[in-house]
Amino acid sequence: MSKGVAAITGGASGIGEACAREFAKQGYEVAVLDRNIEGAERVAREIGGKAKALDVGREDEIEAVTAWIEDTMGPVEALVNSAGIIQVPVRPSDLPMSVFDDVVRINQRGLYLCCTSFGHRMVTRKRGAIVNIASISGMVSMPLHAYGPSKAAVVSITECLAAEWGPVGVRVNAVSPGYTLTPAVQGAIERGQRDPAQLSQSAALQRLIDPSEIATVCAFLASPGASAVTGINVPVDAGLLCGVTWTQYGGMRMPLSNES
Ligand SMILES: NC(=O)c1ccc[n+]([C@@H]2O[C@H](COP(=O)([O-])OP(=O)(O)OC[C@H]3O[C@@H](n4cnc5c(N)ncnc54)[C@H](O)[C@@H]3O)[C@@H](O)[C@H]2O)c1
Repeated sequence: MSKGVAAITGGASGIGEACAREFAKQGYEVAVLDRNIEGAERVAREIGGKAKALDVGREDEIEAVTAWIEDTMGPVEALVNSAGIIQVPVRPSDLPMSVFDDVVRINQRGLYLCCTSFGHRMVTRKRGAIVNIASISGMVSMPLHAYGPSKAAVVSITECLAAEWGPVGVRVNAVSPGYTLTPAVQGAIERGQRDPAQLSQSAALQRLIDPSEIATVCAFLASPGASAVTGINVPVDAGLLCGVTWTQYGGMRMPLSNES
């Protein structure tokens, strides 16, 4: 039996694509939303969902696409906001404010508008769950002066809306991925902007994350299994937050054979 409609922004690639596939696997009818319509159509075709062009930086498009999904597919039970852009790790003096504004417009303002556009309809029905993709970059400082604050804002938006809509049963949670091997990160590695060995070595699990490992947590947060969970931020970081300060002590070490 169908679990109803799930809308996934940024569904054409990476974490959003993995969410589209996981939600389809778990029995949702998935609306794959992305400004890359060819990519969205490819994913939708493969999972038997529907694709729609959406630039979350465009307020008018968000409302129109929300109405289109509800009219043609039915009420949205789950929304994952994964659409987002990264930035080059530069000094503030080398960060054009046009880049800063784009990051805020898409990662923060766009995500908030998607939450309210879909969320207001969920509130009317008194049911629904939203999962916002934040980042560990919003939890510890990195040389990402636009991206990091935009992701900290995602956590704050999540908490505010969870408290606002909790009384009618609409849940809002965030997932903060660590370094996840998506086309965005792969591209940064290929351009020499990120080093995969360095990204892995600070994490307790000593590896990058597969997008599917983010998607399963998002699906859980949207599911009835998480019916008492709202307003939280779940790091899915391969143990980066607990391991990152160990570099000051020489880094991670293998347990001795008599300890394992
Ligand atoms: N990959 C990581 O290591 C990592 C870590 C932490 C957080 N995140 C977050 O996860 C989310 C997905 O990132 P990813 O690594 O899968 O990237 P990705 O580039 O593989 O996928 C992002 C998708 O979002 C779409 N998109 C970008 N701007 C958009 C807009 N204005 N409107 C609609 N769609 C838009 C892109 O077309 C693309 O399909 C982002 O919010 C990112 O900040 C990623």
